[in-house]
Amino acid sequence: MREVQEILNNRRTIYRFTSEDVSDLDLETGFLAANNAPCHKLTFPWKFYVVGKETRKKLLPAVVSLARDKAAKKKEDDVQMAEERAISKIMDVPRMIVVTSKLSRNDLFREKEDYAATVCSLHNLVLSLWDLGIGSQWSTGAITRDERTYSVLEIDSTKERIIGFLKVGYPEIVPTNEKKNPNEFKFYLP
Ligand SMILES: Cc1cc2nc3c(=O)[nH]c(=O)nc-3n(C[C@H](O)[C@H](O)[C@H](O)COP(=O)(O)O)c2cc1C
Repeated sequence: MREVQEILNNRRTIYRFTSEDVSDLDLETGFLAANNAPCHKLTFPWKFYVVGKETRKKLLPAVVSLARDKAAKKKEDDVQMAEERAISKIMDVPRMIVVTSKLSRNDLFREKEDYAATVCSLHNLVLSLWDLGIGSQWSTGAITRDERTYSVLEIDSTKERIIGFLKVGYPEIVPTNEKKNPNEFKFYLP
């Protein structure tokens, strides 16, 4: 088993996956770690929806219309290619997990703390999967915020907020990106 520090420091967002599927057993290992994230007042505000291809297909009309809007705004010539790219981002990833956090409209501090806890939970899942050699990409693209997505997934947007889609699979390429020097953000006060 790889050391925890190594997992923390080597994890990278994965944008290209192999076609190999990720087993339910491995996902369950990740969900156990997700469930052990800290959460103030033990609200357990997170939910994870593992979205299969049949359901993903139902998202495509919204995916295509958002891709068209974006291409028009950016004055892209090849709208068809933009649409195909957007479809591929949803359909060609081995696993797609929609992550939501509980809303508390009458207590915005609670809602903020719950969002923080859900992020901890999501990242526990990400790190647990990374330990198993499985990569992921957190996405907050327009489709994650579109009301049509809530409708397809039957998520009540007055009770839960989608905080992102997590695309999951075995890495084809692990990007190397520059990180800040810790000296830029740490300050020891006397
Ligand atoms: C809240 C959040 C939202 C993100 N949304 C996207 C996204 O919509 N599309 C994307 O390609 N990457 C997204 N990412 C991944 C970041 O781009 C990535 O974490 C960043 O480039 C640093 O790379 P690393 O994760 O490999 O350290 C998101 C990350 C976070 C934390």
